[in-house]
Amino acid sequence: MIYFETHKKDKGLDFIDINIPSNYNELDAYYKIRRDIFCEEQGLFVGDDFDANDPKSIPIIAMNHYMGAPDQVVGVVRIYEEQKGEWFGGRLGVSKEYRSFSKFICPHLFTARDISALYHMSIAAGLIYRAVSLANYLGCHKFSAHVQEQNVKLFKRLHWNVIGEVEQSGKKHFLMEAELEAYPPTPIYTTPIKANTTLSSLAHVA
Ligand SMILES: CC(C)(COP(=O)(O)OP(=O)(O)OC[C@H]1O[C@@H](n2cnc3c(N)ncnc32)[C@H](O)[C@@H]1OP(=O)(O)O)[C@@H](O)C(=O)NCCC(=O)NCCS
Repeated sequence: MIYFETHKKDKGLDFIDINIPSNYNELDAYYKIRRDIFCEEQGLFVGDDFDANDPKSIPIIAMNHYMGAPDQVVGVVRIYEEQKGEWFGGRLGVSKEYRSFSKFICPHLFTARDISALYHMSIAAGLIYRAVSLANYLGCHKFSAHVQEQNVKLFKRLHWNVIGEVEQSGKKHFLMEAELEAYPPTPIYTTPIKANTTLSSLAHVA
């Protein structure tokens, strides 16, 4: 669990947990945030951004908790295996009002590791960490993403490298790859949905 400290007196009660959806309400919220960001805000898709990669994707959500109880989904990302061992991440998005939060407390996350993977722990950074470390746990040897130009800096400081340039949805993107040694294999423990499935049984419920 990755905690976000809001006020000292709330410590331990208000936090953000990054995990895979454990019910259909959370999955609905995951798709809604994607539509809000990629259809409405960025205009990359009309109406719905669901595509052929979704049925084979593992969705990951950042859930805000208020007074210890799940409150709302505030960030999303998806991962999928393109070819054996070669994983892709995409649809990274954080709700507008939760962008630039960076005061996560990550007890034990990097204990006994000699690499500082996340010195800037925003919600986006937490989602990226979860995405790549889960894929690594599932047998990934190469993790890539098409990154919008304005976000290349964010990925570079999280140990990603630019491999090339691609045009996607009419917009310039950079093909980037994660340095996997910065993302030690990490399963997701706390969900009834098993992390070693592709969740293909979860239908799209827009
Ligand atoms: C990109 C995004 C996921 C970053 O989320 P975040 O949790 O705010 O991440 P960070 O706090 O680490 O900020 C990353 C960068 O976004 C910038 N940012 C923060 N809030 C922002 C906002 N409201 N609008 C635009 N950019 C913002 C930060 O200044 C930072 O820029 P820097 O790298 O020059 O320092 C989020 O801004 C977002 O959802 N954007 C729209 C969708 C998108 O671009 N997805 C990524 C596709 S590759």
